[in-house]
Amino acid sequence: MEIVIKETYEEMSQLAAQLIAEIIRRKPRAVIGLATGSTPLGTYRELIRIHKDEGLDFSQVVSFNLDEYVGLPNDNEQSYHYFMWENLFKHINIVPANVHIPDGVAAELKEACDNYEIEIDDHGGIDVQLLGIGRNGHIAFNEPGSSLGSRTKIKTLTEKTRQDNARFFDSIDEVPKYCVTMGIGTILEARKLVLLANGENKAEAIQAALEGPITVSVPASAVQFHPDVTVIMDKAAASKLTRQYHTEPSHLNRQ
Ligand code: PGA
Repeated sequence: MEIVIKETYEEMSQLAAQLIAEIIRRKPRAVIGLATGSTPLGTYRELIRIHKDEGLDFSQVVSFNLDEYVGLPNDNEQSYHYFMWENLFKHINIVPANVHIPDGVAAELKEACDNYEIEIDDHGGIDVQLLGIGRNGHIAFNEPGSSLGSRTKIKTLTEKTRQDNARFFDSIDEVPKYCVTMGIGTILEARKLVLLANGENKAEAIQAALEGPITVSVPASAVQFHPDVTVIMDKAAASKLTRQYHTEPSHLNRQ
């Protein structure tokens, strides 16, 4: 596991975008796994800048998002479909048919989850998966207690997550109670994981995920199983870590 601590959120975001851009430059048909929430917004801004200023080409890139609320139509401003188009896709030259986001309004949700897994496989698997972490240690919407081998599925959101996400809604009553999320087993099959965290409110979850035991109580601790993980965070999120870590990923040091 490679753990990189940057001074600021901006530097964290620049590095994450740089890692993803390098993968796309090496493999124009890269399959990238994307996340929503506040954390990756800076990474998306930077990817848009690299696309505009340096011509990073998304025309063959395929994307798979981690999760979606159940019951929010795609054009609802709180849906993750809306989030992704607003904050990334409409600013780059990705082809709409290459975008995949779990369908939270499918008539047959279970079947849609199974098909999502099949689609990931049909595209040869995910090359790089971007991840945030919840204050309760969740990854995607895999809340504490989620099986570490789980696949794309319907989940109930915990009260803590609903409270955290209520800031995006008019009231907590409007926050959906269910979601569709890639499972931890699905996430662990991506060839590379990039886990991002910023802010002091993530420090405890990050410490438990990276330095604690692997446990369903901290779903993000499952990344310890993965052979190629880069964790990028700002100083505040790293403030409870007990070991010494780096400020640059090793492959960039070698350049
Ligand atoms: P956040 O959410 O980026 O909005 O903090 C992260 C997560 O819940 O995975």
